[in-house]
Amino acid sequence: MKILITGGAGFVGSHLADKLHADGHDITIIDNLSTGRYSNVEHLEGQERFRLIIDTVLNARLMEELIRESDRVFHMASAVGVRLIMERPVETIETIFRGTDVVLGFCARYRKRVLIPSTSEVYGKGTSVPFREDDDILKGSTSKHRWAYACAKELDEFLALAHWKESRLPVVVVRLFNTVGPRQTGQYGMVVPRFVKAALKNEPIPVHGDGSQSRCFGHVLDVVEALPKLLETPACFGQVINIGNAQEITIKALAEKAIEMTGSRSEVHLIPYEEAYGEGFEDMQRRVPSIDKAKKLIGFQPTRSLENIINDVASEFRRELKAEMANA
Ligand SMILES: NC(=O)c1ccc[n+]([C@@H]2O[C@H](COP(=O)([O-])OP(=O)(O)OC[C@H]3O[C@@H](n4cnc5c(N)ncnc54)[C@H](O)[C@@H]3O)[C@@H](O)[C@H]2O)c1
Repeated sequence: MKILITGGAGFVGSHLADKLHADGHDITIIDNLSTGRYSNVEHLEGQERFRLIIDTVLNARLMEELIRESDRVFHMASAVGVRLIMERPVETIETIFRGTDVVLGFCARYRKRVLIPSTSEVYGKGTSVPFREDDDILKGSTSKHRWAYACAKELDEFLALAHWKESRLPVVVVRLFNTVGPRQTGQYGMVVPRFVKAALKNEPIPVHGDGSQSRCFGHVLDVVEALPKLLETPACFGQVINIGNAQEITIKALAEKAIEMTGSRSEVHLIPYEEAYGEGFEDMQRRVPSIDKAKKLIGFQPTRSLENIINDVASEFRRELKAEMANA
């Protein structure tokens, strides 16, 4: 099949490209390399059945052409990460909403199956974990800008479901919970790569707040196995589906685990939220997915643990640090 992956030079998109290319599909990636990296897909370039286009999903004319010639569309392009959302507030909203509008519009016109990733952030300040897809949602005020990411993604969800309702566009909305693994950069506030890298360098590990907030981390390879299955299962069309791992850990315990597993001399440093993100930041205390729906629809069951994730991320950084030292 011909598969279009927007944002395919990013973290999740590039792993998805690897999987689908290995499965024998023709892959086209469109990415503006804003948070993605060429090095994530460099190994695919020059191979048969692979094409990389550096451009934006807001280029509607190009997107129409790419979508018309594709059999499946995975719309992974987005502004991503809490730090980016706080630092570039206008661009964040525009990229998320306008990009998805362009993609859904052409997928509806040409009747293409499309997967729209959303995020566990849409569960907002909900406290009744595990989060189920049909739960009510409580968000903070619009003066707290962190909620802009969740609200823009929620609007994407509404638009996707509206296309399903109005014209039966075969669309699947996936709420990704924290997804981690090799290739994810710590640059945009992603906690696992930042902690592991600091631990390997024996540097202090900054933990925001008191570190009692908890998260669940899913291995990117578990996630990219699930995404194509969702798009090949008609029962998933017009549905919102959680994908993640339900193993929960506090952020402080995560930092301590990264220290222990890498044999590091690092120490945990607690940093107040205002110092880390400035005014207008709020965090969620817990975020645990219910994965019952994905289990029922596609038999989803993550097979990789947090320990696997830390080991895989640490191996990648060790290779990078070795290469940096050799070049110094
Ligand atoms: N990684 C996670 O934990 C996580 C959690 C929840 C949701 N998600 C969602 O999964 C998707 C992929 O996220 P990721 O973690 O791989 O992030 P990422 O930043 O690595 O990937 C996003 C990609 O989109 C590209 N991009 C951004 N704006 C673009 C534009 N206008 N045109 C073309 N390309 C553009 C970036 O360059 C990047 O390669 C996003 O929709 C994100 O919201 C990820």
